Amino acid sequence: MSEEFAGDTPAWTRDHAAGLHRDDSNVAPIIYPPDERLDDGLHIWDTWLLRNRDGSIAEIDGRRVIFALTSPSDLLPGKRHDVATIRYFYSTDGENWTTGGRVFDDGTLGQRQWAGSAMYDPDGDDGEVYFYYTAAGEDDAEELTYTQRIALATGGTVHTDESGLRIDGTWDHRVILTPDGDWYEREAQSRGMIYTFRDPWFFEDPQSGETYLLFEANTPVPEGAGECGDSVWEEFNGSIGIAHSPSGDPTEFELRPPLLDSVCVNQELERPHLVVRDGTYYLFISSHVHTFAPGLEGYDALYGFVADDLRGDYEPLNDHGMVLTNPENAPFQAYSWLVYDHGDELLVTSFFNYFDYNRPNLDDVSLLPPDEQMRRFGGTLAPTVRLGLDGDRTGLVGTLDHGHLPLRRESLPPSWWDQADREGD
Ligand code: FRU
Repeated sequence: MSEEFAGDTPAWTRDHAAGLHRDDSNVAPIIYPPDERLDDGLHIWDTWLLRNRDGSIAEIDGRRVIFALTSPSDLLPGKRHDVATIRYFYSTDGENWTTGGRVFDDGTLGQRQWAGSAMYDPDGDDGEVYFYYTAAGEDDAEELTYTQRIALATGGTVHTDESGLRIDGTWDHRVILTPDGDWYEREAQSRGMIYTFRDPWFFEDPQSGETYLLFEANTPVPEGAGECGDSVWEEFNGSIGIAHSPSGDPTEFELRPPLLDSVCVNQELERPHLVVRDGTYYLFISSHVHTFAPGLEGYDALYGFVADDLRGDYEPLNDHGMVLTNPENAPFQAYSWLVYDHGDELLVTSFFNYFDYNRPNLDDVSLLPPDEQMRRFGGTLAPTVRLGLDGDRTGLVGTLDHGHLPLRRESLPPSWWDQADREGD
């Protein structure tokens, strides 16, 4: 069967989501503010690693690189999305990070840049970076707008010397994907909350060697379609989109039907990404409590799905889909989780969001009074969480420090399970 006609879209259903609950396997420990932030002058949130084409973490002359959405730390955290600027940071040990600076000086598309991914090609001139991002807002509009397009910047290169690592070059920016209105909702079709078409994620399928881009989107549901028991639920129409590069050229992609959707369940399946282990595909997204349809109890959490090939019949991990969430007394302490493979375990990084804050009836924390927003926003990387994985079950097995991102060759300290085994001896 050709992958263009792979049949019905797998669904995250209300039945699955009705089982969502916190338990010992999925609740992260409470996060305390770190002694040191990534950068005192900056608030940072969505973060991603520079990766090689095969998805492994790039290491350039002994340094790994992360990119993050940033805003000045004296700006109100609730306003940060409106000014988001992508900066890079690098580290030799995965624990201490140096701020590199802004990735782009000018020429970016959109009024501001939202999350994406970055692929490193060491064979390009000087080590070339393919930088996928969300161009948010119309370039020439005077007011802030919420249009989202998937953009690519090429032409940037990585240089290293004794003093550090530098990413520069003359970037060429272009829009590579916009919603088609058929598989993927356009802004004008959106019935509820603002539509989504963002967060591009480069992915090379290890089984087929084919080149893809995943992204966050919505499935168009015309008024009166009768998709759900209640027509209001139809506005909750998140999907995980995918585009294919038939030639393998990382600059040319064509839309394909979504990998999964959550019509009647949830409006935002954010920052989709895949980890492939022994031929099993683990698909992860982040989502918010307030983007679940009425009648469902969700959480700000990392969710995951599993299938036995890229276009497989994805089933939610742990039956309901939740993999990692925040404690009940700190429900917004972390967000925007990113999972990567570390051999025996999966490692999960995220950002330290609003801490010491528990008003479930006010889940949009940007509505907090300004001084409370300032006092309670982490704005730096959260502690890395270690997950055990067994088939379609996941469980927390430990944590590392804020922003500690080990490479696969770097060993981890004993996990909670190892320690329990030892105590049991
Ligand atoms: C997730 C997210 C992304 C988006 C960014 C904007 O935290 O909503 O989907 O790219 O934040 O700041």
